[in-house]
Amino acid sequence: MLLQLSDVDISYNDNVIVKGVNLELDSGERLSIVGESGSGKTTVIRAILGVLPRAGKVTNGKIIYDGKNILEFTPKEWKKVRGKEISMIFQDSGNMMNPVQKIGDQFIEYITTQEDTDKKSAYEKAVKMLSLTNLPNPENVMNSYTFELSGGMRQRVGIAMAITFEPKLLLADEPTSALDVTTQAQIVKELMKITKSSMIIVTHNIGVAAALGDKLMVMQGGKVVEYGKTTEVIENPKAEYTKTLLSAVPEIGGKRYA
Ligand SMILES: Nc1ncnc2c1ncn2[C@@H]1O[C@H](COP(=O)(O)OP(=O)(O)OP(=O)(O)O)[C@@H](O)[C@H]1O
Ligand SMILES: [Mg+2]
Repeated sequence: MLLQLSDVDISYNDNVIVKGVNLELDSGERLSIVGESGSGKTTVIRAILGVLPRAGKVTNGKIIYDGKNILEFTPKEWKKVRGKEISMIFQDSGNMMNPVQKIGDQFIEYITTQEDTDKKSAYEKAVKMLSLTNLPNPENVMNSYTFELSGGMRQRVGIAMAITFEPKLLLADEPTSALDVTTQAQIVKELMKITKSSMIIVTHNIGVAAALGDKLMVMQGGKVVEYGKTTEVIENPKAEYTKTLLSAVPEIGGKRYA
């Protein structure tokens, strides 16, 4: 087992916002988390990466990654794991980047701070990662600023960076929410082809969630209302909320999600 959350509560300013989360993820397995805005999806995956906002804290439970409770990680242990073994694709990777520094310089800096390597090899590695994510003309992208790229291209840059060190666990917070659903599905399908990492993918769209995950979790108001194998959840949803979400996606009945 790569990751296990048991009875995890997360509070902001001492108010419990996420309550009693349990989940398990094996190596190579994919989990989708779906739920309405404010249900706690981002909070959960931030806790897994140990990057909750200052007001946030895991107040109960355990998060076991690779046999160790990450809640007890020292800064040194985090440095080894974060960005390398566990990495994250943020809601808008473009916003995460510096608008006045060329993408190439940022990418090279990212690689050289994580790995003992020279700029030339870092450049080559970055170009290779960009072409893996199907960005046309990667050298050009390296020489561009974020505002010169489309939302989809920026997203691909974010993905390229996140998978550079072949993470064991990839957390994707609505990797493509700014994009239309077809582009979303396309990008994440490509992502699945180029990485064997375990993944947790957060999305608003249960159709996208169903297409991507081996497992599906549905959150509502800080609680997990549904969790199980995707096929089983779709065939036999337990929570009313899951049923409502599923009924809004007609193609799921016809198994177009597969
Ligand atoms: N920095 C913060 N300080 C205080 N409360 C917060 C903070 N961030 C989130 N919250 C609270 O936690 C709740 C869950 O937020 P979270 O961002 O995890 O939801 P989400 O499911 O990711 O929503 P969305 O789909 O809009 O991204 C929010 O409704 C808010 O009340
Ligand atoms: Mg969120």
